[in-house]
Amino acid sequence: MHCGQLLLTFLVLIFISTTEETCYLRDIITVVEGEPFYLKYCSLSPEHKNETATIKWFKCTESHGHVELSSSSSPRITLRDYVLEFWPIELNDNGTYVVQMGNHTNKWKLNVIKRSKHSCFAEKQVIGKRVGVKKSLRITCNNSFYKGLINRTSLYKNCEKIENNKKPFLHKNAEFEDQGYYTCMFFLYHNGKLFNVTETFNVTIEAEALPRT
Ligand SMILES: *[C@@H]1O[C@H](CO)[C@@H](O)[C@H](O)[C@H]1NC(C)=O
Ligand SMILES: *[C@@H]1O[C@H](CO)[C@@H](O)[C@H](O)[C@H]1NC(C)=O
Ligand SMILES: *[C@@H]1O[C@H](CO)[C@@H](O)[C@H](O)[C@H]1NC(C)=O
Ligand SMILES: *[C@@H]1O[C@H](CO)[C@@H](O)[C@H](O)[C@H]1NC(C)=O
Ligand SMILES: *[C@@H]1O[C@H](CO)[C@@H](O)[C@H](O)[C@H]1NC(C)=O
Ligand SMILES: *[C@@H]1O[C@H](CO)[C@@H](O)[C@H](O)[C@H]1NC(C)=O
Ligand SMILES: *[C@@H]1O[C@H](CO)[C@@H](O)[C@H](O)[C@H]1NC(C)=O
Repeated sequence: MHCGQLLLTFLVLIFISTTEETCYLRDIITVVEGEPFYLKYCSLSPEHKNETATIKWFKCTESHGHVELSSSSSPRITLRDYVLEFWPIELNDNGTYVVQMGNHTNKWKLNVIKRSKHSCFAEKQVIGKRVGVKKSLRITCNNSFYKGLINRTSLYKNCEKIENNKKPFLHKNAEFEDQGYYTCMFFLYHNGKLFNVTETFNVTIEAEALPRT
């Protein structure tokens, strides 16, 4: 069977944030090789909560069609309840993933990109944040999915470490010099190995809008 057939029953869900852990509903996700990563089935209806046993995960590639994933597919893959975890994700994990539960499916395209040798973040992965000058600039490093595993978190500005503690945050009135790339780097242990997960904000400080006359 090919990916297309499997996806004929394709459901468009509107994600409502009711659960603590974040589930993705973006179709295409860019991930950097070497980082832990997860996909989570997004369910809106409570009756699905009981269908854990019937969850199936597939990876679709041009060459192999769709292949069911199991914890024995790769030592880097963990399946639990609604979540597919990668410890870590690597370039060859690039592709389309489908989760099937009963008649419902979620589909994602993972675009796994190379780690930059020269930068602590990937430009394709930054989250834009615009703040007016003198307005409150707030950057909080928290990660709801991995929070229980996080050992240490560092905050970098333009790849220079500015804070290193349990939960770094920045809160100030924005000045033009604050513009830059702010990277939260979460360090976590899994099976005795140290990993890091990054999240980068591209902060732009904007001049105050002229008052209307
Ligand atoms: C974060 O993890 C990557 C991939 O394992 C590694 O190459 C990099 O050196 C780590 N960064 C830090 C600051 O430890
Ligand atoms: C969930 O499944 C179990 C066993 O299959 C059953 O006993 C229970 O009543 C179900 N709960 C709901 C809310 O459907
Ligand atoms: C990775 O996957 C994306 C979308 O799933 C695709 O566009 C891209 O060509 C793939 N890259 C490689 C190197 O296979
Ligand atoms: C799921 O599909 C089966 C057969 O394809 C159908 O009988 C059943 O009603 C469907 N269930 C739901 C909840 O749509
Ligand atoms: C960061 O934001 C600025 C201003 O919006 C934009 O010009 C720049 O391309 C962004 N950088 C990246 C890597 O997306
Ligand atoms: C971090 O937590 C604060 C509140 O504790 C919340 O407002 C903020 O959205 C969270 N940030 C992320 C990236 O989850
Ligand atoms: C982080 O890991 C180190 C080494 O395993 C350990 O000594 C330290 O207590 C841990 N810190 C936290 C906050 O878990």
